[in-house]
Amino acid sequence: MMPSLDQLLLQRRSLRSFSDRPIERGILDRMFEAARWASSAFNEQPWNYVVLDDPASDARLRVLASMEPHNRSWAEKAPVILASVAQLGFRGRGGVNRHAYHDVGQANAHLALRAAELGLTVHMIGGFDHRTAAEALGLSAAFDVVALMAVAYPGPPEVLPEPLRVREVAPRIRREIGEFVHFGVWTK
Ligand SMILES: Cc1cc2nc3c(=O)[nH]c(=O)nc-3n(C[C@H](O)[C@H](O)[C@H](O)COP(=O)(O)O)c2cc1C
Repeated sequence: MMPSLDQLLLQRRSLRSFSDRPIERGILDRMFEAARWASSAFNEQPWNYVVLDDPASDARLRVLASMEPHNRSWAEKAPVILASVAQLGFRGRGGVNRHAYHDVGQANAHLALRAAELGLTVHMIGGFDHRTAAEALGLSAAFDVVALMAVAYPGPPEVLPEPLRVREVAPRIRREIGEFVHFGVWTK
């Protein structure tokens, strides 16, 4: 049976222990299909993804090098690194698309939930040097890397060093609805 949305929201988590099981192209395509159906301002669909699945490729090694070392230490073991990339200007009408990062984030959220449904983890990474990553991918100034993502089937938590091992299995913590929802009037 398909998991419900509630189950997927609870099941999705950003893990750091990865299996070396390869990720089939069909599985990646299902993740991109979920990203594809995200909403976006003016239906601009500013999202792009670079799939880095060759451990020896120059682009992958350079993107890994752009990461902060504490991220690289676990991310480099992921069979797939995805770079989500925003197109910063509108394609047809011209001008800056101030919604580009929002909309790529939204597509990424779709992608991550689909991955959870398929039994994978997507760990998003913001701790990287944007210029180095953009250069590694050969992006022009019209594009920017939004988030990098380590994509993998989960591995055993025991292989991780402390304190990552503890974090891998710790309960996920969230603010209560009452802390961030303001009914009718801003209350902060
Ligand atoms: C845009 C973005 C950037 C993130 N950057 C990092 C990062 O640099 N390093 C890291 O370990 N986790 C990173 N994370 C993962 C978050 O720490 C994680 O989503 C959060 O702790 C909630 O955990 P959960 O995704 O398992 O619910 C990032 C997540 C997002 C959405």
